[in-house]
Amino acid sequence: MSPRPVVAVFNGPNLDLLGEREPEIYGEGTLGDLEDLCRTAAEAHHYDLDFRQTNHEGVLLESLHEIRHTAYGLVLNAAGWTHTSVAIHDALALVRCPVVEVHLSDVHAREPFRVHSYVTPQAALVIVGRGPQGYADAIDALPGLWAHRREG
Ligand code: DQA
Repeated sequence: MSPRPVVAVFNGPNLDLLGEREPEIYGEGTLGDLEDLCRTAAEAHHYDLDFRQTNHEGVLLESLHEIRHTAYGLVLNAAGWTHTSVAIHDALALVRCPVVEVHLSDVHAREPFRVHSYVTPQAALVIVGRGPQGYADAIDALPGLWAHRREG
């Protein structure tokens, strides 16, 4: 039996405190709830889920390196690093599968510094402001995004 495709869902800083963190913006659900939702969405497509969160940028960079040739899709909420990290932009250039940039909140309707994203140029799709459902929508969108796959 061939192995199931693996969908990576990676989360950046402060998302470990979902539920406690500004619930009026990010909702009451925890990171565990988000993982459960992603697992259900992945299972519906018969994907395996590789769900991670880190508060250390180097750890995220090494996770991106690790999955660069193997993931079927990457759903990335780089959180605050979205707006600051050239290094994440550059690491995403190595990732061959489609990348979906996800934000729980509508980053386009908040402070001006949240409008710019270093992730967007590497993303096949950007989903903002749909809360946790945005992650499920991202997983559902992956089959249609394979036209954006990098060769090599
Ligand atoms: C976020 C939006 C970012 O601007 C912020 O720094 C986050 C979370 C979101 O999911 O809405 O940490 O990525």
